[in-house]
Amino acid sequence: MRRTILLLFTAALLATGCGRKAVVRELNVVPEPVFMVQKEGSFTLHGNPKLSVAKLGQNSATVKYIMKSLRHARLRPKLVSMSSNSDIELVLYDTVNPELGDEGYLLEVRSSGITLSANTERGIFYAYQTLAQMLPNDVTNTVYSSITLPECTILDYPRFEWRGVHLDVSRHFFPVKFIKKYLDVMANYKMNRFHFHLTDDHGWRLPSERYPLLNTIGSWRVDRDGQPWGKADPPRDGERTTYGGFYSREELEEIIEYAAERGIEVIPEVEMPGHCAALLAAYPQLSCNGQGSHVAIGPCWPSPVLCAGNDSSLAMINRILDEVCDIFPSRYIHIGGDEAFKDAWRQCPRCQQRIRQEHLADEEQLQSWFIAQVQKHLAQRGKTIIGWDEIMGLKEGSWGMEAVVNSRNEMLGDDAVVMSWRGLKPGMEAAREGRKVIMCPTEFCYLDYYQADARYQPDAIGGMITLRKAYEFNPAPLGTNLHVEANILGGQCNLWTEFINTPQHAEYMLLPRMLAISEALWSPAAKKDWNRFRRKVEEQKERLRVKGYNYCEGSFTPQFTARRVDDNTMNIAISTEVPNTYIFYTTDLSTPTRESAIYLGPVNLIRGTHIKLLPVYKDIERDSVYEFVIK
Ligand code: ACM
Repeated sequence: MRRTILLLFTAALLATGCGRKAVVRELNVVPEPVFMVQKEGSFTLHGNPKLSVAKLGQNSATVKYIMKSLRHARLRPKLVSMSSNSDIELVLYDTVNPELGDEGYLLEVRSSGITLSANTERGIFYAYQTLAQMLPNDVTNTVYSSITLPECTILDYPRFEWRGVHLDVSRHFFPVKFIKKYLDVMANYKMNRFHFHLTDDHGWRLPSERYPLLNTIGSWRVDRDGQPWGKADPPRDGERTTYGGFYSREELEEIIEYAAERGIEVIPEVEMPGHCAALLAAYPQLSCNGQGSHVAIGPCWPSPVLCAGNDSSLAMINRILDEVCDIFPSRYIHIGGDEAFKDAWRQCPRCQQRIRQEHLADEEQLQSWFIAQVQKHLAQRGKTIIGWDEIMGLKEGSWGMEAVVNSRNEMLGDDAVVMSWRGLKPGMEAAREGRKVIMCPTEFCYLDYYQADARYQPDAIGGMITLRKAYEFNPAPLGTNLHVEANILGGQCNLWTEFINTPQHAEYMLLPRMLAISEALWSPAAKKDWNRFRRKVEEQKERLRVKGYNYCEGSFTPQFTARRVDDNTMNIAISTEVPNTYIFYTTDLSTPTRESAIYLGPVNLIRGTHIKLLPVYKDIERDSVYEFVIK
């Protein structure tokens, strides 16, 4: 065995009835642990591993999860009371180990057995996620009578406490079964906050006993899923609304419990005062002019706002939030606050009266006042609000620092958390002011953006975040002042679903980019290494495939740089994001195969040449043939 920091090891696998199977593998843990070292020797886990759980107790959710997962891996685990007798021992420390914190763990594989130790059940859960990644890839499809692991020590804890993944279930609605699958893959990569975007212009997905029209009207829209999002025909009067739905209270409780068992907190988002078309379709009296709208189809811009001068809008919002608080135990409630267009407020006598009565400067401050009222109400329920960065009092439609400085929201209570989506800058400004911040800048974290050349990808909202770009995400880049960094809770990736209408497509947009975000949020910045990550991703994709997830192969899409040689000739350099990918190509319109020319370095090509390329990685042809005309 070789000793390297990458921890190469041999896993000798004895497949039942099929003879011996031995492989030499690199240890591919994502996200990269803080510290890993391999020692001499190994430990063999047999088909009937004994698990001792000590203080955790047999009924702990983590023990049940581990037992189920080992059974899923076709092992037959057995609980034993004596640790001396066990193969896998779970240890909760009696005295807190400060280095490990609430989520860290120590994973030790010794010749005598495997020990997962932590201060908390969550830490044990993460230790197990790492152990699960040390088991062979095809563990769910093959029955092993034994699995041999190298002796090693892994000490690990997260860089950031907030490692979030968002899902918009308003633009398209997703079933509970899929939400659970989403939570499963989040947990596998140590993500711990699920930002559940439950209301927006395109559908209201929360149950309401008090306001039944939210569900009978607000949860449904005319079905235009057969038409491109941007070109959907507007609804006609009387047309039936058949697309949509909402989660029942029992379903939400089931999701919350399922998430909690995986160390994930579910944070509900209720959008206000903008992005309210679904709410106003149900209760038009909450708008400034009392006129409702349809639950939106396709682009809804600018989206309608709640009347901020109407006491009964605020009262109703507060009662809706009370229902939300009754269901969701999370410390945080996300109240939206983004992209609220104020034209209606400018025309509205009640909003103008509110501005005068509260001595507000303008409509911007009216939004700040509105959010502050909601914050006060939620504080009485013991909840802390999170809002998109506009809650800081940024000007309508503004982007970046200038407006932050010009128009600060002095009314916002100190504990409101800012979710910085229009770049890192608003978040940095908030953190400098002493606010807690979650970073999810569009540039790195919007997973509804394209991930490779649009010609080879399903329609997306726009933009471009390749896997490599996502990997560059750093919520607190080098040079961030330590006092500012202390206010950055972490970050998250966001999956808006205008262009995503099936679970398979949602998975495709999430994966593998979520793995890059997970490494950005868990691993020490100094441990990030793109080339190592890329290699690890290839193995992780195999794991994802075995578990039935769809993912994108966009990293294999060839990228060009062209340099002019003369009027007729261009010098073309071709690469993919994946090291050691071979590219075969033709220039005679024939389909490239492995017999075609292999790309070894920049080539001179006549303008107008039609080049076709076939990427091959580890002897597997990737995805498709790509074509370009040299211009
Ligand atoms: C957002 O993307 N409008 C928060």
